[in-house]
Amino acid sequence: MEKVIIIMPAWNEEDNIRRMIDELVDNEFPKIKQAEMHLLVVDNYSKDKTAKIVEEASKTRKNVHVIQQGEKSGLGWAYITGMKYAIKKLNADAVIEMDADFQHPPRFVGPMVQAYLDGAGYVIGSRYIPGGSVPKEWPLFRKAISFFGNLFIRIVLTKPKLHDLTTGFRLTKVKGVLDKIALDKLMEPHRFAYKVDLLYQSVKNTKKVVEVPLQFASRKQEKSKFNTKEMISTFKVAIILGIKDKQRFIKFGTVGFLGFLVNFLFLRVFRGLGLVEILTWLFSTELAIINNYVLNNIWTFREAKIGGIGKTISKFLQFNLTSAGALVIQSFFGPLGVKFVGVEYDWLVLIFVVVFLVLPYNYFMYNAVIWKTWKLPWSKKKRT
Ligand code: GDD
Ligand code: MN
Repeated sequence: MEKVIIIMPAWNEEDNIRRMIDELVDNEFPKIKQAEMHLLVVDNYSKDKTAKIVEEASKTRKNVHVIQQGEKSGLGWAYITGMKYAIKKLNADAVIEMDADFQHPPRFVGPMVQAYLDGAGYVIGSRYIPGGSVPKEWPLFRKAISFFGNLFIRIVLTKPKLHDLTTGFRLTKVKGVLDKIALDKLMEPHRFAYKVDLLYQSVKNTKKVVEVPLQFASRKQEKSKFNTKEMISTFKVAIILGIKDKQRFIKFGTVGFLGFLVNFLFLRVFRGLGLVEILTWLFSTELAIINNYVLNNIWTFREAKIGGIGKTISKFLQFNLTSAGALVIQSFFGPLGVKFVGVEYDWLVLIFVVVFLVLPYNYFMYNAVIWKTWKLPWSKKKRT
């Protein structure tokens, strides 16, 4: 049977934790028949009786555990400590991140586990899909921050299909997903922002990501520990990840731009040397192509660098053919576009053709054919 461990950080939650064990462990767990459910509370040396209450409960329940998160303080570290323990000591097949303060009502655990049993590698408890919600009592301001903050992160990480990227309620499969993540190297583990990095990497490792509704409840006891500092660090992590994700594309664009400069410069140089116009264009274009090939090879695609004379020659020929393809695209769609919008808007046509056709075409050809960094569904050979 699949073993699912709920990791629940708890810091001074004595008012909640006893009832949580009642409702979650004693009430909800028995309803989940196809998985072996456990609760692992990660305490941060609470000043109240949080740990003691859980220890007491664990004596009569085999599926309740409590550990301390150690010297490293902060919510991210609590989860990292808990996840390592769940994998190594409790042999978890999947772990769930869940709050101790009933903001994640226990009734949502069942559907989450079901989604996992149905084949999901990552399950997101989402407040922004039908059936999910944020507390009605929240002031408009708080609702707006949560909604737009989320939207911002969705855009930055280009994850339009996922609706809640900051939720604290999630399930992660261990094999192939969580065990591939270097937990000690998460960004900002002392803050709430750890969860953006964890989500980003988990989604990357997972074939099937599923969102299940979460009705995020309001906190009854005490105040939330989330604040402006946490929010800024969350955005920061999202932006850094977003840029990293697009790094190759940014390098590709930079190289393309340098190629354009080389082309432009040598047009003048060769013309100055008195070369006939056709050769001027030919040589300067070829120099730009060489520039692009070399820079892309040692920089943009350095992980897939092409070396050796034979390989270099054949790949460089391929690269020239690819560039010729771009030429064909331009000379077909350029005149066609001009026919539609008029010659006074030729610049618009040029921008459109370059941005929407030539750039994607080049980027695809470089990744899929020349440097082969993309695994295409129809490719047979294993690629690295
Ligand atoms: N062990 C440990 N150590 N537990 C902690 C720590 C810590 O440093 N800080 C917070 N906790 C526990 C709390 O006791 C609670 O069970 C849970 O972590 C969440 O803390 P809250 O302070 O209640 O967070 P929140 O309600 O403001 O934030 C919720 O919403 C965020 C935004 O949607 C959480 O679900 C976050 O995960 C979520 O990002
Ligand atoms: Mn809370």
